[in-house]
Formats: sequence, C-alpha cells, structure tokens
Amino acid sequence: MNELVGKHIVLGLSGGVACYKAADLCRRLIKEGATVQVVMTEAAEQFITPVTMQALSGRVVYGSQWDAREPNNMPHINLSREADAILVAPCSADFVARLVQGRADELLSLLCLARPAQQVPLLLAPAMNREMWAHPATQRNLAQVAQDGAVVLGVGNGDQACGETGDGRMLEPDEIVDELGAFFAPKLLSGHTVLVTAGPTFEAIDPVRGITNLSSGKMGFAIARAAREAGADVTLVAGPVHLPTPRGVRRVNVQSAQEMLVAVDAIAQSASIFIATAAVADWRPAAPSSEKIKKDGSGQTPTLEFVENTDILATVAQSPRAVANELYCVGFAAESHDLLAHATAKRARKGVPLLVGNIGPATFGKDDNALLLVDAQGHRELPHASKRVLAQQLIGEIAGRLQPPRP
Ligand code: CTP
Repeated sequence: MNELVGKHIVLGLSGGVACYKAADLCRRLIKEGATVQVVMTEAAEQFITPVTMQALSGRVVYGSQWDAREPNNMPHINLSREADAILVAPCSADFVARLVQGRADELLSLLCLARPAQQVPLLLAPAMNREMWAHPATQRNLAQVAQDGAVVLGVGNGDQACGETGDGRMLEPDEIVDELGAFFAPKLLSGHTVLVTAGPTFEAIDPVRGITNLSSGKMGFAIARAAREAGADVTLVAGPVHLPTPRGVRRVNVQSAQEMLVAVDAIAQSASIFIATAAVADWRPAAPSSEKIKKDGSGQTPTLEFVENTDILATVAQSPRAVANELYCVGFAAESHDLLAHATAKRARKGVPLLVGNIGPATFGKDDNALLLVDAQGHRELPHASKRVLAQQLIGEIAGRLQPPRP
C-alpha cells in the first residue's frame, strides 16, 4: 500500500543550502520504492555535487538542456514525459519566480514548462530565508504558481543557515516523502470530515497520581494520517501520548475521559465520520483530591471509590446526526480473548454500523496489529500487518460503506 512504489520521480534541485537535505530525500524516495532522476540547476551545483546525487539515485544527473547524451538532444521532453511527478526540493525564491515567468533558459525550469501538466504533477518544496519567504513578491509568485497548477508544499519554522529564525526552512525529507505519498493516495474520503479519538485517558487520583492504561495511540494516529491522505479533513482528539501529529491533521489534546467527551461532542457536530480508537478509562476516581494524598504513617492504604465514565462512542452513536446517517460511527474493541463474540456483542451494545476488534495486550505499543471487522453483514479479518497498512485498509473499508458526502 506504499503509494511511492514504482513511481518515477524527477527530483529537481535549485540553489539553496537545503540541497544537503535533498541527498537524504533522494535516498528515502528510493527506499520507499520510487526511482529518482535528479536534475540540478547550476546554482544547486554550488551547494552539493552531482556526484553525490548520482551515487544516491543510481542515475546520471542532468544539468543542461544541451545534454548530448539524449539521442534527440531533448532532455526536457524525455525526462518530463517519463515522470510520474516532478518534485523541486529545494525550490528557491528565484526558481519560483522563473516558473511564474515560464522561463526556459535552463533545464529544470524548461522541463517544468514542457511537462504535460495534466499527467505530470509539479510539487514544490520551498526553501529560503524568512525575509525572502515573507516578501510580497515571493508570496505573490507562490500564489501564481499554485494557480498555474503546481502543488506548493509548506515550509518549516526554526533556525536557518543564515543564523535567523523563522518560516522558510525546507520541510524535512521524511515530511516531503509523506506529502508525496499523500499526494498519490486515492482520495477515497474527499469531502469528508473525520474525527478520530486515540490513546489512553488519564483519570486523576490527586495532582500527582492517576489511573491510565497501556494504549500507545499508534493505531489512531495511523488512521488519522490515512484519512487525511485519503483527502478528508481530519481532527484527532488525543489522550496523553508522545506521538508526532500526522501532517495536515488538526490535533486536540485531552487528559481525562470527561475532557475527551467535551471535545468529541463539539467536533462531532460537523463530522461525517467518527472513528473511536481511544482506550477510554471505564472508571474515574469519584472524588479526586486537590492535594497530594500523603501517607499518614499508620500503614493504612487509602480507599478509592470510582464512578463510571460516560461512553463517548455510544453517546455519539445515539446522537441525532448519527441516527440520521449523517455521521458514520466506527468503534474499536480491545479484547483479551473471544474476539469475535465480544466484538459482535459490543457492536450491538454501542449501536455502531462497524466495529473493529483487536487483541489489546498483543498490540498495545506495537507497530503492527491484526484487525477483525464486524458489521451487519458478518465479519472479515484484516490479517497481521503494520498499523500504517491496516489504517489504509480500514479507510478503504470505511469508504466502501459510506454514502457520498452531502454537498
Ligand atoms: N469507548 C468510549 N467511551 C468509553 C469507553 C469506550 O468511547 N467510556 C469506546 C472506545 O473508544 C472503543 C469502544 O468504545 O471504540 C470500545 O471500547 P472498549 O474499552 O473495548 O470497551 P468497553 O466499552 O470499555 O467495554 P468492556 O469494558 O466491556 O470491554
């Protein structure tokens, strides 16, 4: 399910310090299963040598439109026709200006101009000083290239090679690979608004203690990422986990089940799909102490009373929008045994059209899993695979069960 397998990418480098990251980017693209043809401008060759890029890509680097190695002497036609996408990374301010003007006096801008725009997308990963990035000329030019059909990726924020700090750094190679993968992913959830809960909740006993569980949040984060790649607008309500937010996903951090309920309740009003992967604590201490509970020296242990947390999934699944089929609800079941029986019973109890079962102790914290899908028609297994692949498969399964989104 890796979107980059078999894709042929023309990786264009224009001049900028971020050229050093292009070497790593090239490696990562190849590792993901793509083939890479590097094209460098003269300015790029000031920052990194074609030798490095040739060694990493396993292909001779092109740098001139007068390259006589091509029998027809037309590298701009040949290279742009065989590509599945052209990715310019780093894309300098000057290179954006060249694209705006449709310049054709050096190979990289020439092949961007000559590409069959309907078949060969052009993606740009800008990289420049923060003042150059913020300049109205650059912003105007970026808006123009986007209007002309290029996909302009974002920029990072942070320390810059010039010593300044701000917007304009090139995205990191892994982020660019993610963006490219997302670009190629089938847009199965285009027009949908997806809400995902993930991770454990933390129920306070006192200011320094609480009860929680071993959920890592990895499955929910992978699902949020796959939903976004499938074209959905995604919000992730996350319990306390240390995972990076998937690119393009809106994240709301919560601690307790009650906080999760409040966040979900508000966001579900405008969602079309709700996927509840969170391992919500079933109970919370009835009367959490506002001060740390101290040992009193008597050897006596404190007695904790619990109250049951509201079932967030069941509440949302009974809401008018879910009942009216405007909100499709998917539940998860973390079980330790008898998965099919428990998942089937839980689907009915929660009132959801689709329930996804997994063996909790076998998957918590791991990067792989196996899922059992239970719906009104019966059940189906998604065999053992990485959570990333399972998330993509699950998004496909959900998309196949949906009505088209309302306009
Ligand atoms: N869930 C929820 N709110 C809760 C408890 C669970 O939204 N208070 C959701 C979970 O996110 C998951 C599904 O309900 O999608 C099932 O969670 P699970 O912990 O497996 O089941 P429980 O309802 O806790 O049932 P049991 O304890 O009997 O296994």
